[in-house]
Amino acid sequence: MSTTTPGTTTVADPLDTAAIKAQFPLLARTIDGAPIHYLDSANTSQKPRAVLDAMTAFAETSYAPINRSAYRLAAEATDAYEQGRAAVARFVNAAHADEIVFTKNATEALNVVARAWGGAHLHRGDVVVLTHMEHHANVVPWHQLVAERGIELRWIPLTADGRLDLADLERLLDGAKVLSFSAMSNVLGTLTPVAELCAAAHDAGALAVVDACQYVPHNVTDVQGWGADFAAFSSHKLCGPSGIGALWGRTELLEATPPFLGGGNMIADVRLDGFTSAPVPAKFEAGTPPIIEAIGFGAAVEFLEGLGMEAVRRHEIELTRYALDTLSARFGDDITIHGPTDLAVRGGVLSFAFRDLHPHDVSQVLDQRNVCVRAGHHCAKPLMRILGVAATARASVYVYNDRDDVDALADALDGASDIFGL
Ligand SMILES: Cc1ncc(COP(=O)(O)O)c(C=O)c1O
Repeated sequence: MSTTTPGTTTVADPLDTAAIKAQFPLLARTIDGAPIHYLDSANTSQKPRAVLDAMTAFAETSYAPINRSAYRLAAEATDAYEQGRAAVARFVNAAHADEIVFTKNATEALNVVARAWGGAHLHRGDVVVLTHMEHHANVVPWHQLVAERGIELRWIPLTADGRLDLADLERLLDGAKVLSFSAMSNVLGTLTPVAELCAAAHDAGALAVVDACQYVPHNVTDVQGWGADFAAFSSHKLCGPSGIGALWGRTELLEATPPFLGGGNMIADVRLDGFTSAPVPAKFEAGTPPIIEAIGFGAAVEFLEGLGMEAVRRHEIELTRYALDTLSARFGDDITIHGPTDLAVRGGVLSFAFRDLHPHDVSQVLDQRNVCVRAGHHCAKPLMRILGVAATARASVYVYNDRDDVDALADALDGASDIFGL
C-alpha cells in the first residue's frame, strides 16, 4: 500500500493558518527554545482560545447543576448545556437537537449502539458486518456481543491501496442486521463512500452505523444526507475538550434502544418494582454529565463553523498533497506511506514506515526536533496485521498546521537517518 507521488498542482490555502495558529495558546509554547510541530491531531486536537474562554466563562459565571434545580442559575446552566447540544446537532445536520446524545467519547457512543441497541435487537446467528480498517472502538464491542450473544461477524476487506474492497459487498450484507464502518480510517486516512454504504446496508435490511470520529473534525458532515442510522464522534478531535463525545441516532432508533447506564438523570420514574426511562436523549445521559465540556464542545463546533468546513477540508487536501510530495521527493523508496494516493478519498493522515527503523524510534527522534507524531498500532490491530506491520509512525494534520510543520517533519526524518547512521 505504498504511495506513488501524486500530482504537484497546488492551490492557494483557503485557511490563514498563521492567524489560526495564533489562536491556539499551546502552539505558542516552545520546548528547548524551539516551536512545537504538533502533527498528532488524529489522536487528539489542540484547543483554541475561543473554546478555553467559553468553558472558563461558563465555569466562572454560570456553572450549576443541569436538569435538577428550579433556581435561575441552574436554568441558565441547563440552557447553556442544551445550546451545546443544538450546536453539535447543527454541525452534523441532525434533524433535531434531541437526536444528539452526549457520551464520554466516540468509544462510548459505539458501545451504546453495540451493547444497548445490539443487546436488545441482536440474537444468536445475527450478522454484523465490519471492515478491516476499523478502530478497536468499532470492533471490541461487537466481539463482546459475539461472546455474549453468539452473533456472527463478517468483514469487508481492503484493496491494495487501502480502500474498502466492495466487490463482494452484496454477499457480505446478505441477511445482515448491521453494517458498522468508519467514515475515515485513523490509520490509512481513507475516506469511505458513506452514503453508498448506508444505502447498501438498507437495501439488505441492515442498519448503517457510522464511526465518524475521524470524519466529523475534517469534513462537512450531513448525517441525514448520508442516510445513516447512528453516527459516533468525539469532541476532543475537533478542537473541543476531552471527556465528551456524541452519539447521533434517528429518533425512532434511539427510542427503541434501552438505556446503556442506569442512575440519576436518565429516569422518568423509579419505583420499588422498577423504573421508567426518561425520554431521549436524557435516557442515555445517566448521572451528572460533562457540563462544562458540553459548553466547550458547542464552542468548538462554532469555531470550526467560523473557519468553514469546506475550507478546512480543502486546506487539508493541499497540505496532505504537499506532505506526500515532499516526503516522496526527499526519501523515495526509503519511506512507505500507507493508504490511497487519490486525495479525493484521503484525509490528512499519513501512516508511514521509514527505512527499517522501528516507529517508536522514529517518533522519539522526531521528538528531539519537537515534531509530535504518534507511533504504535493506533488501536487498529486487525489492520496492522493485514498491513503486515506491528506498528507505524503517523503524522496527521489539522487547521493549525502548515508547510513549515511538514518541512520540520522531513528535516527531522533526515536527522533520524544521521542518528542511526543510515
Ligand atoms: C476511527 C476512530 N474511531 C473511534 C475512535 C475512538 O475515539 P475516542 O478515543 O475519542 O473514544 C478513534 C480514536 O482515535 C478513531 O480514530
